[in-house]
Amino acid sequence: MNALTFESIRGIKGTFTPPPDKSITHRALILSAMAEGISGIRNALMSLDTEATVSVLKALGASFSREGDVLRVESPGYRGFTQPEGVLWCANSGTTARMISGVLAPGIISATVDGDASLRRRPMERVISPLRSMGADLASASGDGRLPVIIKPSQMFPADIKGDTPSAQVKSAVLLAGAQLEGVTSYTEKLYTRDHTERLLSLFGGKVEAEGLTVRVNGGTKLAPAEIEVPGDLSSAAVMIACALMYENSELTALSVGINPTRRAFLDILLSWGAQIKVENFRNITEPVADLTVRGSSLQGGIISGNLAQYAIDELPLLGMLGLFTREGVAIRNATELRFKECDRIAAMVENLRALGAEVEERDDGFSVAPLAGRPEAGVTLDSKNDHRIAMINVLLAKRWGLNILSSDLSGIGVSYPDFLKQFSELEIL
Ligand code: S3P
Repeated sequence: MNALTFESIRGIKGTFTPPPDKSITHRALILSAMAEGISGIRNALMSLDTEATVSVLKALGASFSREGDVLRVESPGYRGFTQPEGVLWCANSGTTARMISGVLAPGIISATVDGDASLRRRPMERVISPLRSMGADLASASGDGRLPVIIKPSQMFPADIKGDTPSAQVKSAVLLAGAQLEGVTSYTEKLYTRDHTERLLSLFGGKVEAEGLTVRVNGGTKLAPAEIEVPGDLSSAAVMIACALMYENSELTALSVGINPTRRAFLDILLSWGAQIKVENFRNITEPVADLTVRGSSLQGGIISGNLAQYAIDELPLLGMLGLFTREGVAIRNATELRFKECDRIAAMVENLRALGAEVEERDDGFSVAPLAGRPEAGVTLDSKNDHRIAMINVLLAKRWGLNILSSDLSGIGVSYPDFLKQFSELEIL
């Protein structure tokens, strides 16, 4: 396979606006389609993943148009969804497949939810099982708990669901189904996961309340259209921030970044390691946002586990990579979920970090990486396993030391951050 070689750099400087938040965009799109009427989403992310959600919602009868930077969504609402003609194609997006299963389970239409080869490998049983316990008629076509999932009309009822897997997607699927059922549905998780669905559902008129690890939705009423503005995505900004932290001379500002308390652990962990990050200009754009200014810093490193690991789930590979540049190394624990992302992110990180010559220990629920003494051998090639987040980490590593990346891997970056390479090239490169 062809490899691309990157020129080595010595730091980055500048200001950038990260792309809109992927998780919030998915939810704003879905809730706009569940509400009857016309909603508006300012600054919606248009990426491979969110376009998959748009195409699924179009197949259900929602229509989309542009008004400047506002995406207008006109919909008959969840009670008026039309019978889709073909499969509901979720491409590479687990969030689409899982949340749409919850949206459609209580309805009167039949649908098949499917996706690409990577998505077909990811677990769906975690959504099928709680929805079935609420009376839904949905099943994995081949019986292996994976896509395609076939949904048929059913009589669902509200229930108290205990979540086995820490997953905001599963919680969201249950809440979005519960929002359509008369009565109170509750979902109790073992570890806190991101709460964007709860926040957005109430902006669309849903009756939802959280108490500790339990969220309750009192459903069965119509959802009302809303006007939403999507904040910048901390998970995308995190890639540039991590890059800045790899070099002494860097100085970088990320504007309007979402710092929802259930998403911002990446920042809190780095601050506790001694990173120089200024969090300024707090305001509210649907959710709390701030501008983040980061300077190259000496990082202590440490152990990331428990709820912190969950709150930084998508940034754990980046934090693990930063372990190379810390004084004490980094250990990631309680993060088995990383094995079920777009690829097995624990295995991918272990393989790539070892290829650099780092001392790495793999565990079932995470990995540890020691600070890197010296530099990788010339000619090392990194494999991103068709995973957008691993691909961006590999770009950072390749730029640090002038390494190779399998060229087929870069297109996947469009899943969450289509302008990543362009925005990078617009920074001042030291
Ligand atoms: C997401 C939740 C997380 C996260 C994913 C997006 C969401 O997955 O890793 O990138 O938008 O709800 P899980 O729900 O599987 O934890």
